Amino acid sequence: MSILLEARHIQFSVSEHKSSFFAPPRKTVLQDVSLHVAERETLGIVGSSGSGKSTLSRILTGLLKPEKGEVLFQGQALRDTAGQVRKDVRPHIQMIFQDPQGALDPRQTIRQIVKEPLHQTPLSTEEKERRVRQALTDVALPVDAADRYPRMFSGGQRQRIAIARALVTRPSVIIADEAVSALDVSTQAVVLNLLMDLQNRYGLSYIFVSHDLAVIRHISHRVAVLDGGRIVETGPTVSVLDHPQHPTTRALIDASL
Ligand SMILES: Nc1ncnc2c1ncn2[C@@H]1O[C@H](COP(=O)(O)OP(=O)(O)OP(=O)(O)O)[C@@H](O)[C@H]1O
Ligand SMILES: [Mg+2]
Repeated sequence: MSILLEARHIQFSVSEHKSSFFAPPRKTVLQDVSLHVAERETLGIVGSSGSGKSTLSRILTGLLKPEKGEVLFQGQALRDTAGQVRKDVRPHIQMIFQDPQGALDPRQTIRQIVKEPLHQTPLSTEEKERRVRQALTDVALPVDAADRYPRMFSGGQRQRIAIARALVTRPSVIIADEAVSALDVSTQAVVLNLLMDLQNRYGLSYIFVSHDLAVIRHISHRVAVLDGGRIVETGPTVSVLDHPQHPTTRALIDASL
């Protein structure tokens, strides 16, 4: 089992009062967070609202820079010595967000939306077009969806479009932040099964953030529990959810019953 993406001793804080003239007090959002996901593995991240899940997701994808600690992709630093995310790594790490309504620009066609992550790549126009068709096929959307607009699709279909956009660069890992939370239960199951099929087909890894333990149980091999910016428990999903060791995990389970 080889480690694909790893976070080591991540620390992140925000200033509590933006307008303060004096150095504002800082609030710690993540404290000494270390975790990893292996190839072909799904790591679930659970925790109550405000525990730091989205902040951690953004640090793992390189959208946010940690104050301390580092992210490694295949054992190499995600950022170069100047602190920039390495260009050769960028296409390998993709993200899917929660909101199937707001995440897609309503003025863009599905082709433009799905093609967008390829802008920085040296691929030819034909190859980009081929990738878009392949990605739409991968998520079981008709190829003629490419000329339509997001409003013409249901919530579940829009989340497939977001998945197609993530797949188009042929990533190794996808970080999904509450990716199915806005969908009804039956659509959730369809999208989760699609993600699991894609994992088998392409050997993908996922970091799957959710407050919904049923979703986490369905998709994750291992799980990490965040509380107040710290990981308080981690282990195989079944053992953590069936035999929780930490009070925070027990509270999350009780709240979900
Ligand atoms: N840019 C920011 N400015 C101020 N506070 C922030 C900022 N980003 C995050 N925070 C704070 O950091 C904490 C963690 O936020 P984060 O969004 O990571 O939590 P979360 O676990 O994703 O919550 P939710 O389940 O509600 O999505 C919260 O208290 C939030 O208010
Ligand atoms: Mg969040």
